[in-house]
Parts: sequence; C-alpha cells; structure tokens
Amino acid sequence: MKTYILGVSAYYHDSAACLIRDGDIVAAAQEERFTRKKFDARFPINAIRYCLREGGISLADLKYFVFYDKPLIKFERLLETYVAFSPKGIKSFLAAMPVWLKEKLLLKSVLQNELVSLDGIKKRALPSLLFGEHHESHAASAFYPSPFKSAAVLCMDGVGEWATTSAWIGDGNNLTPLWEIHFPHSLGLLYSAFTYYTGFKVNSGEYKVMGLAPYGKPKYIKAIYDNLIDLKEDGTFRLKIDYFNYCTGLTMTNGKFDELFGGPPRKPESLLTQRDMDLARSIQEVTEEVMLRLARTLHRETGAENLCLAGGVALNCVGNGRILREGPYKELWIQPSAGDAGGAVGAALTAWHKLEGKSRSFAGVMDAMKGSFLGPSYTNEEVEQFLQQKEAPYKRLNDEVLFDRIAEELVSGKIVGWFQGRMEFGPRTLGCRSIIGDARDPRMQSVMNLKIKYRESFRPFAPSVLRERVADYFALDRDSPYMLLVAPVLEKRRIEPTKDQQLLWGIDLLNVPRSDIPAVTHVDYSARIQTVHKETNLRYYKLLKAFEEKSGCAVIVNTSFNVRNEPIVCSPEDAYRCFMRSAIDILVLENCLLYKTDQKPLQGDDNWQKEFELD
Ligand SMILES: [Fe+2]
Repeated sequence: MKTYILGVSAYYHDSAACLIRDGDIVAAAQEERFTRKKFDARFPINAIRYCLREGGISLADLKYFVFYDKPLIKFERLLETYVAFSPKGIKSFLAAMPVWLKEKLLLKSVLQNELVSLDGIKKRALPSLLFGEHHESHAASAFYPSPFKSAAVLCMDGVGEWATTSAWIGDGNNLTPLWEIHFPHSLGLLYSAFTYYTGFKVNSGEYKVMGLAPYGKPKYIKAIYDNLIDLKEDGTFRLKIDYFNYCTGLTMTNGKFDELFGGPPRKPESLLTQRDMDLARSIQEVTEEVMLRLARTLHRETGAENLCLAGGVALNCVGNGRILREGPYKELWIQPSAGDAGGAVGAALTAWHKLEGKSRSFAGVMDAMKGSFLGPSYTNEEVEQFLQQKEAPYKRLNDEVLFDRIAEELVSGKIVGWFQGRMEFGPRTLGCRSIIGDARDPRMQSVMNLKIKYRESFRPFAPSVLRERVADYFALDRDSPYMLLVAPVLEKRRIEPTKDQQLLWGIDLLNVPRSDIPAVTHVDYSARIQTVHKETNLRYYKLLKAFEEKSGCAVIVNTSFNVRNEPIVCSPEDAYRCFMRSAIDILVLENCLLYKTDQKPLQGDDNWQKEFELD
C-alpha cells in the first residue's frame, strides 16, 4: 500500500498544499491560483482538493497531514516581543490578538474542522495531524528534492517561529540543524524594510527592489552598515532595532529611519526618484554581502561541496548568482518555491524522511521537483469544450504545425499567451503559463510592460534559453531551470551606448538597447535566466527549437501569464480572460490556437482592473 502525506502552509502569506506518495512529489499548488486572490493566505481548501484529485485519493487515504510550522512558538515570540518592548507596541499587539486567540492557537481544531467540511470526513477518520517547524520545512524543501546526496543548507527569510536564518547539513535522509539567527535580527525583514520605505508592498514587492537596484548607486551602504546592521566577518549579524518598527508597530520603519535617509517613505504608486534607486542598490549590495559571507562560513564549517537554499531571501536571484560565481561551492540548488508556499513541500517530505525514516531516491533527471510542473493540467478536449461554450473561434493544430506557426508569429513580433501542461509551483512561470515574445525585438520590453502587464516599466523580463545554448548568450554554463540565477549577458553580445545615451540616467536607461537580446538585458547587462530542458518540458523545448530554426536565436522572453496584481492564470478560462483583457495577440491553449483579431470583445468587463488589489 502506498503512503500518502499532505503538507500545507497557511494563515500567513501565500497558502499552499503538496501531496507526496511514497516520497514522490505528486502535486503542489498555491491557493491564490484557484481563488484568484494574490497571495491568498486562507486555508488552502482548493489547493488541497486539487492535490487529492491529482493523487486519485481522498482525505481518509492520507497517513499524515503536516502543517508547515508551529503556531504556539510563533505566539510565544509575539508575547515575548511585546513584553520586551512594552508598553510600546500595544496597538499592533491588540490588533494581532483576536486572530491569534481565535484561529492560530486553536489551529489543531481549526484544521480539523476545515478538513471535515472539505469532504465530509468523520473526525475520527482524519489523518494524523503534525506540525513541522518553519525553518525545518524550508530546509527540507531545499535539501530533500535537491539532486545532491549531501549538501550544506542555508535558509534565510523574514521570520517563522524564532529563526530568521538557519544553517543545516544534509546527508542521505538526515537533515541536521547547525545554528540559527533569531528574530528580530532578520535579513528578510531588513530587505522588507527597504521594500516598504521605497514604496512597494512588503512580502511581494521585494523583487521590484531587486529589479530597481541596477539603476541606482550604492551611496547608502555606509549609512546601512553604520546604523542599521552590525555585520560580522562570518556573516552573522544583529540589526539595530530602534530604526525599525516591525517589533511594535504596524509599519516596517520609523521616524529615525526617515531621518537617516532624509525623508519619509515613498508613497506607493508615486514617481520613483534617484534616491529610491540608490536605496535599492545599497540594500541589494548589503544583502548580497551577507548572503556571501554566510555561504562561505557554512562551507568552512561543513566542507560541503554543494549548497541548497530556501526561504524568501533565496528568491533574490542576483544574490544567488553571486554565490554561484564567487562562493566556494561546486554546485548550488535552490528550491523553486523558496518562500513559505514551498514550506508545504518541506513539511510533507520531513514526515516521510524523518518520521518514517525513508531513504531518498535520486531517480530524477535533475531533481525531484519535476521542473516544478506540479499543478493542474487540462486536456485538449476540456479546452475545446470551454472554447465552444464561449463561442470563441479557434483552430486545433498538431504539435509540429503549432510550434512552427508560433515560432513564425514570434519572429514577426507577435506576443503569445502560451498555456500548456501542468501549472508551475512557485512564483515563476517556466513555459506552461507564460507570455512569450521575441527577445531580439527592441520594442518588446515596453510593449509587454505597458500593454500587457499594465505595470511600471523599469523591470526587466526574463529569458528562456535552450539549455545547450545558454553559454552562447550568458556567462553561465549550467542548469538554471527555475529562473533563480542572474548572470551577465556575454560581452560579445553587448552594444556600447552612444555618447548621448551615456548621459541618460534612471528609468530613461531602459529604452537603450544593450545587447542583441535587448528585451531580456537589464541596465547592468544582467539577465534572470531560465534554461529549458527537454527532459522536463518537451513541448516548450520544441517551441524554442522551432524559433531558433527560424530566427537563429535560442532565446525568447518569458513572463508570467497574468496582468499586474493578478495571480498567474491556472485554467483555460483564466487564460482566455487575461488574453482578452490585454494586448496579447495570440493565445495557445494546449493544441488550440486563437487570434485576438478573430475574437468578439468580452461583454460587461469594463471594470476588470478594479478586480485586483495593487501588488
Ligand atoms: Fe519563511
């Protein structure tokens, strides 16, 4: 009989569920994709239903239901923090209390009730309910699915229970803790403080700060080291808490922080200034320095050849790229769902390997995440049924004809919504729910930003590149299947700016073509690379091959299939809606091809932009 284990993360940010069968990851998905509410933190009832459906089982077939952290210890942290700062912080303490008292402390019975209502299961038939530890869930999600037999593991995030940074050594199915840094000293929260201060949303706008950094100068680095963080040679650190407000207040920074950087935080959506860019660059460089030092220390202590990363800070792919290039490790593997959603994977795998004592198998071509294609898929028949019911004109083509046609359309400058196979788990789309375009087209970046994503135009797009061609374009010659490594575009592909262009600064730099693949080259000549592998995504690989045959270029633009503030599309219906609301020219749903010019406008959909909260 097979052993099924369900891991769940919820009630904080980006809820998710993951099902494993005898240690094999069968399914994983974030709740937001089903409810269409970005970073939905509610109990992931839809994601759980999906996982059970994919596994062909019901709740009663589960051996364990594992929650990814321990709410009681989190509560202890909240209380101790309050006591330490009392009477400061009473407002935020009182604001947090009702939720804690009502939901989080009674989590066991809350979870039981949720499960009972999910499929009418009797309470006594429920699987055993377990609670993992936040950083152990991250560490397990980084190590167990990695391709390594043994590795050092580094987890960095905002905060879980107490740990904000943790170091581990993994060997076989053993994952042993080495040391931790505790709240309130947190690299994730430091970065989030700058995210807040530069006018972006905490817990989601961090990647915007990273994207903004190359426009700025690192002029505040000294101010950060002198005032905000006491960084030791070994990478461990303490924050100077009197500049921050997250222990006691409802914001991240305070008046003292404003004074240090010469003014209040930028108002969300207001104009970005050079100061914001300089702040972004400064905190980015400090973060990279901390990441590098911690990685080196862990190497010194363990002698490990491989490093695994997880926790929200591991989504900082610029920092990851530097660890790869400058750090002492031979290999680096990063959990594609490095944030808290990925805790669901780690929680389930911890129960299998630690509690059940089962060994790891290394059967995967690259790793056990299966390219992170762990979400729902739809058959051509389901797609056709939907399109016929919508009365949407389409053509069904076989693979070879379809790939050839789409390659031709991309070459002619068309933007394509590309929907096929199983939805990606984690924040990046990797060729199953993607919007794609020609990376050589100098207009592509601004058209995609303004007419498709309806967002700020400073952010670069990411390239998908054939694995075997990556070194022809970038200073990288290894796998980067999850778009979590940034590397420079090769010098021979770069275009030197003219004298006039050299005088530009800030956002104006964006429109200067910087290479022969300008749509994916950032202002500092870097790119956030996804290597495409035939072993994990054959159809996307074949499409890229067809494009290369026609254009001579093995790189296309790949951005997530959504408009600004919208969760990435999950179903054909979501994809069709997004296609109709944006300037995407062509939609591919499995083997069905739709042209925008053939479609009738959506009726009564004029107010759709109000549907999504600003991210
Ligand atoms: Fe976390």
